[in-house]
Amino acid sequence: MCGIVGYLGDREAYPILIKGLHRLEYRGYDSAGVALVNAAKNLNVYKAKGKVAELEEFAISKDVSGTIGIAHTRWATHGEPNNVNAHPHYSQSENLALIHNGIIENYSVLKAMLIEKGFTFSSSTDTEVLIQLIEYIKNTNNCDLFEAVQIALNEVVGAYAIAVIEKGNPDQIIAARKSSPLVVGIGENEFFLASDATPIVEYTNKVVYLEDEEIAILRRGEELKVVDLKNVQKTHAIHSLELNLAQLEKGGYDHFMIKEIFEQPKTIIDCTRGRINVEGTSVSLSGVIDNKEKFLNARRIIIVACGTSWHAGLIGEHLIEDLCRIPVEVEYASEFRYRKPVIYSDDVVIALSQSGETADTLAAIELAKSQGAFIYGICNAVGSSIPRTTHSGSYIHVGPEIGVASTKAFTGQVTVLTMLALTIAKEKGSITEEKFLETVKELGEIPAKIGRILTQNDDIRRFSRIFTYAKNFIYLGRGYNYPSALEGALKLKEISYIHAEGYPAAEMKHGPIALIDNEMPVVVIATQNGMYDKVISNIQEVKARGGKVIAIVTDGDETVKNLADYYIAVPPTLECLDALLTSIPLQLLAYHIAVSKGRDVDQPRNLAKSVTVE
Ligand code: G6P
Repeated sequence: MCGIVGYLGDREAYPILIKGLHRLEYRGYDSAGVALVNAAKNLNVYKAKGKVAELEEFAISKDVSGTIGIAHTRWATHGEPNNVNAHPHYSQSENLALIHNGIIENYSVLKAMLIEKGFTFSSSTDTEVLIQLIEYIKNTNNCDLFEAVQIALNEVVGAYAIAVIEKGNPDQIIAARKSSPLVVGIGENEFFLASDATPIVEYTNKVVYLEDEEIAILRRGEELKVVDLKNVQKTHAIHSLELNLAQLEKGGYDHFMIKEIFEQPKTIIDCTRGRINVEGTSVSLSGVIDNKEKFLNARRIIIVACGTSWHAGLIGEHLIEDLCRIPVEVEYASEFRYRKPVIYSDDVVIALSQSGETADTLAAIELAKSQGAFIYGICNAVGSSIPRTTHSGSYIHVGPEIGVASTKAFTGQVTVLTMLALTIAKEKGSITEEKFLETVKELGEIPAKIGRILTQNDDIRRFSRIFTYAKNFIYLGRGYNYPSALEGALKLKEISYIHAEGYPAAEMKHGPIALIDNEMPVVVIATQNGMYDKVISNIQEVKARGGKVIAIVTDGDETVKNLADYYIAVPPTLECLDALLTSIPLQLLAYHIAVSKGRDVDQPRNLAKSVTVE
């Protein structure tokens, strides 16, 4: 949420900052801005409402020279998206400029104090309060910028990743983090700064992930120095990035989302590589094996997550209860963290998160940790905060996901949860050898089966256009396909702005059936698994009321094909793996409807990829 980029080195900073902002635009895209110190040591700030392209347009005739700069793309929290509220923010004297990701919770108290001291404010942001506070401290204590930042951050309550530069000093960036990620890239005589590694990867693969309450001092010609809020100098490990540039480009597709949908046969193979053996007879997640006793003795497994990851968690609940016979609860992290949950020291908490940075999920982890539970993270972004704070975990290894609507991360999470359940079940003896082998083998077939579904992309695109008129959609599914229905509905509303509700099919008669008329499209997941006959009855109920049925059917199922107005076929698979297939046509359906409606599919309004505020 919000993107931060910084550069200090021998090159011109502006092109690097703009390119970096484009790479980070998926984190927020309400407004953007840049601050540079030029050769004359002037501090120039340019900002524009809207996307990074608007900023570039605005800056065309401006002085954008300088080999040091900071830049920001915003997802508004305090204050509407406009030029004034965009970052960077100047201090009162315009000698300092700050970019900030996060929320300063005590900003109103600090603002009142600063107003009393004669400071005036032009924006309604919490960020402007922080830079004014830093300037106030710098002036009253007569100290340098680093010290002023350190003192100010000791007074601040909330979350932040910040970068500050000052007029007259083209040789220094001060940066700091708490509960909001910040990465320093280390090149030859140059530093890069970013809220994730994507803007850095084309320049260097050496990075340092800052920890909470650490301040980084980036000085020209000097080594990186990291000091904490209590002024203790910290050692910092230099990590090697595994990202490559091609993963961050669209590769000929119109949008990242469709590229990522089409990547799924490969990403599932990447996810299972080294975990399922070549013969397809064994599966093992090392994080689970290393902590076998924790899982085998777990009183309960609690899954905490948000958004799409929460839907993957619901499938995890089915898998673990079905295969391992361990009770599972799935919680919205945002609710869990505030509702005084009962947590036992023999509970295992699984935190699911694509970004590894979601503020609510991180807070839920801290709560469970403080009560002695064992925390297992399942994340995509390598080196992000959740994998660094959990006791153990597994990466899903699907590569960077740039489209704001999650697709390949969802199937990656479900794949890891499947392998986790199989690993525990095998160790626990709660699965027969026959069922184990059958499931592992079938998991190995999933990538090819997804490939077969993707061949229907053109047909789906054609009939999707018909539904651009719709104002509402209902998605129905049962068992493993109920979370798949929820996820399908979420995909549609996120990117097309059509209201969509996912429901357990049998619950339809308890309410949503009242909505059905001849304008209501109803997506029914009706594959030939456990609940097949019952779901057919639901289709009949929809048809009897004039609803338009789009059915997800098993290949060769003529009964449902004949009943439905439109259908998309998926290959047969085991019930416990069904959602890995049924989610794919729903991703394509949402994508094509949104494209037909002319929506900004990769950057839908009001959303952000990584939600680092609560
Ligand atoms: C945001 C994203 C969703 C994502 C959710 C949870 O809302 O737009 O796509 O599912 O956050 O994110 P996480 O990174 O924790 O999976």
